[in-house]
Amino acid sequence: MRTTVGIIGAGPAGLLLARLLHNAGIDSVVLESRDRAYVEQRQRAGILEQGTVDVLREAGAAERMDREGIPHDGIELRFDKRRHRVDFPALTGGRSVMVYAQTEVCKDLIALQLAEGGPLLFEAEALAVEDAESEHPRIRYRHEGREDVLDCDYVVACDGFWGVGRKAVPADVSQVFERTYPFGWLGILADVAPSHDELVYARHDRGFALLSMRSPSVTRAYLQVPEGTDAADWSDEEIWDELDRRLETEDGWKLERGPITAKSVTPMRSYVHEPMRHGRLFLAGDAAHIVPPTGAKGLNLAVGDVVTFARALTHRQETGSTELLDAYSETCLRRVWQAERFSYAMTTMLHTAPDASPFDGRIQRALLDRITTSGAAETDLAEGYTGFPLD
Ligand code: FAD
Ligand code: DHB
Repeated sequence: MRTTVGIIGAGPAGLLLARLLHNAGIDSVVLESRDRAYVEQRQRAGILEQGTVDVLREAGAAERMDREGIPHDGIELRFDKRRHRVDFPALTGGRSVMVYAQTEVCKDLIALQLAEGGPLLFEAEALAVEDAESEHPRIRYRHEGREDVLDCDYVVACDGFWGVGRKAVPADVSQVFERTYPFGWLGILADVAPSHDELVYARHDRGFALLSMRSPSVTRAYLQVPEGTDAADWSDEEIWDELDRRLETEDGWKLERGPITAKSVTPMRSYVHEPMRHGRLFLAGDAAHIVPPTGAKGLNLAVGDVVTFARALTHRQETGSTELLDAYSETCLRRVWQAERFSYAMTTMLHTAPDASPFDGRIQRALLDRITTSGAAETDLAEGYTGFPLD
């Protein structure tokens, strides 16, 4: 098979890229190692930045999001049993975010791709990217028990943190910047209406808690847990009890409980691979960088990368200039590092490390106090949360 752009991975990055290229009249083939049901059910992100919402609308992929997504104009910070609301539009000149799950974004993009776009092959596992430095890179892959080759003009690895794309960048060119955290998030879905109409980010001496939602009748919540925790070790009652403790307020706010339908643990990591391009191989989304989930940046960064690539390739097709393609890595990394900084700051401000000293706890409170009393500090948070602009 041959195509202009070979895309590895049908997560949000790969699927949106295929859609953007289709809209620009550029053909692509998407290879996805898992089956469709797996990709559509994998529980992950829930928050779309203003810029991501705009991109999905422009791509003609926002019809259901605009019907079912829940626009949010703020978040609540909780600490010392106090509550503080951060008002996004007031602080950012009208920007906000949307609660619309990654699963739903993927379902919408898959349906569009299958109806209107180029080939999207499920259970097609990329084995290696070859000849990235040549004019005609190739993806070797296995589909329906057979090995095959996809000949491309460009390869975009959208295959997540564990994918094969990044491995095609030679070791002497790669630079990795990484930090792991000694805790993870235990995430649950529960069949109960969210107990608050906006997301709640809570700092507590026992650890961080986040109250989120998926719909008016489904709560999503997270608890900081020690690294290596098995979700099965937490009973439903223990989870609700712990959420109650960490989210408690002095004004008698009450957390509603309901049946827990899913439980899983996510490790926390900051990771950046530089450069994000080698020859005609481009890395996008989690294949190139990971942020800890505090601050909801991962999916939104993936969207920024593929928008940058689609623009650059369109520019190349229209003008013959490779200027934007050549600048891809640098352009993406500027935004990536802002999101890395923001996610790191949110994580360290709100989580309690196992070796945290009383001094660390006081600094966290001072940071939170600063946000609640300084318009400049609060605006900085609101700008970061609603998203850093694309170049
Ligand atoms: P992925 O979604 O990982 O997709 C990669 C795809 O490539 C997968 O479908 C995989 O099966 C496929 N693949 C892998 N290897 C191969 C191969 N060899 N051949 C073919 N296919 C392959 N981000 C936010 O923005 N907001 C949030 O609120 C948020 N919350 C999160 C909460 C949790 C609990 C977690 C875990 C993550 C969260 N994130 C959030 C991060 C977000 O989910 C990721 O950043 C996002 O999924 C990245 O998209 P991607 O397309 O780059 O990678
Ligand atoms: C969700 C995930 C996040 O990482 C976050 O910061 C906010 C919400 C969510 O899954 O709902």
